[in-house]
Amino acid sequence: MSIPVVTVGQAREDVVGGLEGLHGPVTVVRRCAELTELLAACQSGLARAAVVADGSEGLTASLVDRLGAVGVAIIALTDNAEEAARLRGIGVASALTGVESAALAGRIAEAVSQLTGNPQGSRTGAALGDTGTSLRQLPADVADVPPASGTGRIIAVWGPAGSPGRTFVAANIAGELAADGKSVLLVDADSYGASIAAVLGLLDEAAGLAQACRLADQGQLDAQALLKVAPPVTTKLGTFRVLTGITRADRWTELRGAALTLVLERAKEIADVVVVDTGFCLEADEELSFDTMAPRRNAATLRSLELADTVFAVGAADPVGVPRLVRGLAELELAVPHVSPTVVLNKVRASAVGRSPERQLRDAWERYGPASTVSAFLPADHAVADAALLAGSLLLETAPESKLRRSIADLVCAPVQRSGRSSVFSSTALRRVKG
Ligand SMILES: Nc1ncnc2c1ncn2[C@@H]1O[C@H](COP(=O)(O)OP(=O)(O)OP(=O)(O)O)[C@@H](O)[C@H]1O
Ligand SMILES: [Mg+2]
Repeated sequence: MSIPVVTVGQAREDVVGGLEGLHGPVTVVRRCAELTELLAACQSGLARAAVVADGSEGLTASLVDRLGAVGVAIIALTDNAEEAARLRGIGVASALTGVESAALAGRIAEAVSQLTGNPQGSRTGAALGDTGTSLRQLPADVADVPPASGTGRIIAVWGPAGSPGRTFVAANIAGELAADGKSVLLVDADSYGASIAAVLGLLDEAAGLAQACRLADQGQLDAQALLKVAPPVTTKLGTFRVLTGITRADRWTELRGAALTLVLERAKEIADVVVVDTGFCLEADEELSFDTMAPRRNAATLRSLELADTVFAVGAADPVGVPRLVRGLAELELAVPHVSPTVVLNKVRASAVGRSPERQLRDAWERYGPASTVSAFLPADHAVADAALLAGSLLLETAPESKLRRSIADLVCAPVQRSGRSSVFSSTALRRVKG
């Protein structure tokens, strides 16, 4: 069956005309004047592939993701090696502008079958699948660039509404892993109430994650660029990097799923462990919208959970927090079925649940909770938590001997470090290092 193709780019009429002249493998169903028209045509289900003959600079990761979501593969024509590399980074196959029509038709068929081979039609899948084939007609220096594949693992810290302690746990986990000698990147992906910068006492809120997403969307986020927007934070026991969150909740549109996927993929290249502080809400908002191009309110949280190797589900250990966590876990299972979360009850205290709180909580969980068991109980210690908050610091600095610190370190099997391997500052407050 002939593949219906839409094209954009008046300047390359010869290429389009050549495709039409083939009378077979592909059929040009519409010639568009600009990318927005091409998008509309694709969204109406007209095409299986799009040839961007001119103006590939307008292609972003988000756009490619949305086209992938409606089952449209993209081939862009360019003679510029840098642009070809950028396109490859956002999952677009490219060919030289002088490509023979028959060869181009072959590339289109290839790109379409790769997209079909990826059931979700996700941009990332297409990007990774594309890396070999899209290079064949590119200059040698571009072909030599290895595909992006980091070896770091992602830990997402999630929990339902009600401030159960997601940020507190995420930040302290990052600190403990760094103290254990791991290279760590802490990412604030909470699109409702970013607070990593405040918790770490960082005055400069540059919204590093939004910057990284912008670069990724444009196909310009290499490891070097990521390091630039993720400054190091130093504690007495080690250093880790931070991508701070959006400074206002209404900036959530800057954290699009496709771009965040690229950021996290890149993050795995520069860090052994990527710790992501997520938002609480798991609602899939595209179900509420007829506009498939619309950004998704909870994309940052959902994408982080989808990509995570480990998910900590943190709930507050009180009569409000526990039922919320139970409901939240059911929502999590629906939203991201492949995740098996590690359940953590935080702020465990007798005053909220009665004597022997851990036992009471365990019994109640066995009776009313879901099948997943509670893996850890973190004690409530308001004095210690507040002291860390006041100092803009972590427990490893402000309360190194506390049970709360030990319990959090145990979550990631980090041995509790006491003497600094690379002591940089004597102050208890964390300092931002110019990077
Ligand atoms: N185990 C604990 N004992 C005492 N206080 C705690 C504990 N864990 C967290 N806190 C405190 O609870 C408050 C909320 O924590 P945090 O900001 O980490 O929650 P969150 O789940 O990220 O909330 P948000 O919805 O604002 O993102 C903070 O003041 C924090 O210091
Ligand atoms: Mg938080």
